[in-house]
Amino acid sequence: MGMDLKEKIKQLASEYFAEVQEIRHYLHQHPELSMQEHQTAKFIMDKLDSFGISYQPGIAKTGIVAIIHGMHGGEQVIALRADMDALPIKEANDVPYKSLNTGVMHACGHDVHMASLLGTAKILQNTREHWGGTVKLIFQPSEESYPGGASLMIGEGVLENPSAAAIFGQHVAPQIEAGKVGIRSGMYMASTDEVYLTVKGKGGHAATPHLTIDPVLIASHIVVALQQIVSRNNTPWIPTVLSFGRIIGDGRMNVIPDTVTLDGTFRSFDENWRVEAHKKIREIAMGVAVSMGGNCEVEIKEGYPFLKNDEHLSNHFREHASDYLGKENIIELDLAMTAEDFAFYSQKIPACFYRLGTGNKAKGITSNVHTPTFNIDEKALETAMGLMAWVAVRELSN
Ligand code: NI
Repeated sequence: MGMDLKEKIKQLASEYFAEVQEIRHYLHQHPELSMQEHQTAKFIMDKLDSFGISYQPGIAKTGIVAIIHGMHGGEQVIALRADMDALPIKEANDVPYKSLNTGVMHACGHDVHMASLLGTAKILQNTREHWGGTVKLIFQPSEESYPGGASLMIGEGVLENPSAAAIFGQHVAPQIEAGKVGIRSGMYMASTDEVYLTVKGKGGHAATPHLTIDPVLIASHIVVALQQIVSRNNTPWIPTVLSFGRIIGDGRMNVIPDTVTLDGTFRSFDENWRVEAHKKIREIAMGVAVSMGGNCEVEIKEGYPFLKNDEHLSNHFREHASDYLGKENIIELDLAMTAEDFAFYSQKIPACFYRLGTGNKAKGITSNVHTPTFNIDEKALETAMGLMAWVAVRELSN
């Protein structure tokens, strides 16, 4: 333990770097969409076999849980999670490991998360005479698609047998330079819900509006009226967003349509307020429509809850990461209105989700996630696999 193990982990991270880089290239070349991660799962299992690590496959279809026991005994169990799915984006990077599955791309760095976790697994497996307790490595499908692989795997008991006392996850961050990580204690990422409105009126000639019930006008009033949910109904210190990005009223210059549809997103940081806000959205949208002679159907699809980083655990992470990377390489993060299905774990057990710096301004590696030119400075893989192994063994010794 102590200095010796940290140096050993750093040495192994450096030693395994080329292999983990190759793993990432393979995964990047063979991206698969949410809940279709079959080849990906097979590849991960082959690697785990080659490392001599036992695992259970087929959790939530393509999910895998691997287990490594430290040789010093101990009951403590720590879980580490990587997500597996790619996005329906056509890669624009001209790299030797460009996606071979045209139209599908690891544009959110989940290839990096998997490769890194496999590197961590190999480090933990080959240092297990130096630590005690158990590490669960969770390879999780379908982060990008509702209801999210996390909730499915939790439903299938991934946090039990043995029960994990805490869970860590990481996500690539091109805004942060490789070699650094970002962390935030407490509320970190927003809950997210999809809001679908269908405003029903009565179409007709635009020159005779008095003979119609104009759903375009009704929809316009609804968009404005709904903003009072954020500005008047919400407690000012709960960050909340309600945005509509799609409004379709498919009439013509001189034709008022029968219906208008609106698609939006609601994001916030409080589960009670979230329920209350859904109710308000329904009441206001329907109330405005009815008062104008029309009607409105409201459909709200619940997405992920908000992600809360356990104060205690994230303080520990800060200490372990400072110890491993140096204090100057730890960045304090702002709140994010984006969402992550890691939030489901954070609603169950103490959780810590941190950002792995993968950008490199000098090398021009700055493209954001979910873009066709997203890529990483691969030096981040060495940081990632070693840091996660170090955090796990330090946390197990607490
Ligand atoms: Ni992602």
